Formats: sequence, structure tokens, C-alpha cells
Amino acid sequence: MVIIRGATTIERDEKIEIQRAVKELLEQIEMRNSLTRSEIMSIVFSSTSDIHSYYPAKAAREAGFEHCSLFSAMEPDIEGSLKLCIRVMLFIEKNFTPCHIYLRGAKVLRKDIVSKMNIALDGPAGSGKSTVAKEVAKDYNILYLDTGAMYRACALKAMQAKIAFDDEERLIELMKEIDLSIEYEGGVQKTVLDGRDVSEEIRLPEVSMAASTVSKCPCVRVKMVEKQREIAQKMSCVLDGRDIGTYVLPEADFKFFLTARPEVRAKRRYDELVSKGHAVDFEELKADIVKRDEQDATREFAPLKKADDAVEVDTSDMTISEVVAFVKSKMQEKI
Ligand code: DC
Repeated sequence: MVIIRGATTIERDEKIEIQRAVKELLEQIEMRNSLTRSEIMSIVFSSTSDIHSYYPAKAAREAGFEHCSLFSAMEPDIEGSLKLCIRVMLFIEKNFTPCHIYLRGAKVLRKDIVSKMNIALDGPAGSGKSTVAKEVAKDYNILYLDTGAMYRACALKAMQAKIAFDDEERLIELMKEIDLSIEYEGGVQKTVLDGRDVSEEIRLPEVSMAASTVSKCPCVRVKMVEKQREIAQKMSCVLDGRDIGTYVLPEADFKFFLTARPEVRAKRRYDELVSKGHAVDFEELKADIVKRDEQDATREFAPLKKADDAVEVDTSDMTISEVVAFVKSKMQEKI
């Protein structure tokens, strides 16, 4: 006897979605393992606890798997596990080397048999990139890399060394000695500069503008891009930035370019800073954001730009969950 394993994810907890996903998964397993239905003795499903609408076993019966025993169970709700996921085990009455099948979002469960995936999320400041990237990374249980934090740390280093943000010669020297590392604690990115956690400090508005200026310098970009590519090559991750889809990872599996009207973007940043107790002037912040975008989009080396093959999303009038759902549905279409 052989056991074949597999899994898939659904978009919404709805009967029709469960029926579609189960049918697709079982048909793929049959096809890729050259099975005939009579060889399947039993099929056992488990689904994550956010799936309530329908039994996968019933969906299998309706998809024509009538002769074998069928069983569905619900998994416990485990923090950090993949959402809306249906897993399956098929018990087969013959001997062969099984081909396990992982579809859609469930591909991330088997990084050993399914190649890793990189998702590029680019766009101007306040377009919603980081919030969406964090959610997508959490849902797919993969890493989130905030590349802006790396440029912010370079800017902070230049501030500490009292170097003008456009002094290329001194920035070249600074890049030789910078000790910057990206660490993760409970899945949350920590930016560590010279052995100190600067994750909060780099969020200050003065660092934002300085980051935009130092990031114009090719010596800064080359150094940071090298680190970003190294991380992306090793594991599946969502990277947010300005040039991920065009320059850092032109071969990224999925590319999105988020935009929003300037006043909406400024309001988001304003609310974020105020909630952290900073006193900020809305109009000043808006002017800074517009100036920063202009500087990021017009620099010579790897500017802020939509990749030709990126999906553009205007998030101005969308909620975070709407943007996340849209991004995930576009990814599902392509997987
Ligand atoms: O995403 P952010 O606001 O934290 O980025 C701060 C600055 O860093 C941004 O204005 C330009 C620069 N940046 C960049 O040039 N390339 C990236 N991939 C990310 C950020």
C-alpha cells in the first residue's frame, strides 16, 4: 500500500470553493500518479478550523469518488498555521513511488518538493505595502522583508556619523564599515545596527527623508540589494520596497505595485505616527511624502517604478483585508 499526501487552499469558506478545491486536488493527484479510481481504498481529509461551510469528504463524493471510504476531520486552531487549508491522504492499493501534490497557497507547506516563491510588493510611501506584505507573509507562513528599513538604517548611520546624505565619497566609506543585520523575533523583523535594535528609531520622519536621499547613492543600493538577494535566494519571502520587481528580483514569482492618492497616503502615515505618540503636522507630512516620492521615482539608479509585469493596485478606497484578498486571488490565479 502507498499513501499519497496533498493539500490546497481556498479563497473563502464557501461550499462552492470547497467543492472546486477538493475536485482539483483529487484530480491532480490521480493524474500525476496515473491512478484509476478503483485503486483508491480510502481518502482522509483534514481542514483548518476556519473552514466550516462544507465537508471535503462530501465534496469528494460529489466529484465522483464514490467507491472508497471517505473521512473529514477538523484541525485544531494553531497560531501561525496556513489559513483556509485542506489537507488530504489517499491510501492506494498498489506499490509505486508516490507524487505528493501541493496546490495554490499550500505550496508553501512543502518547500522541499515545491520550489520557493518570492513576492515583490513595490510602491510609494504609504501605499499600504508593509501592512499588506505582513498579512500575506503571515497567511502563507513565509518571511516578510521590509527593505525600506535597511535604507533607513543606512540613513541613521549617516546621521550618527554626521555625513551629508548625498556625500557619495563618505557614504562609500560608511558602507564599508556598516554593521547591519536583519533578524526575526517571533516572525517580526528587527533591524539591528552596530549591535543595537533600531527598529523604532528608523521610523522617525527625519529618517524617512534621509533614507530617500542616501538610497540614491549606488554604493548604498548595491550593498543593500546584495543582502536582499541573499535572503530571497534562500527562502520564500514577501519583499516590499521600490525596486524589488524591476531591479532586486526581476524574476520574482509574483509582482504587485501598490499606489494610493497622496492625501490618503499622508493620512495613513499621520495616523501611524500619531498613534505612536509623535507630534506631526499633516500638511508638512504630506509635502514630505510627495517630495520623497518624486526623489525616489526620479533617481538614476533603480528608481521607484512599476515593473511591466506587475499587477497595479490603487489602494486609496480599499480596506487592508480587501487589498490582501485581491493580492492573494491574483497569486492563486497564477499558481
Ligand atoms: O518603504 P520606506 O518608506 O520605509 O522606505 C524609506 C526610503 O528608502 C524610501 O523613501 C526610498 C528608500 N527605499 C528604496 O530606495 N528602495 C527600497 N527597496 C526600499 C526603500
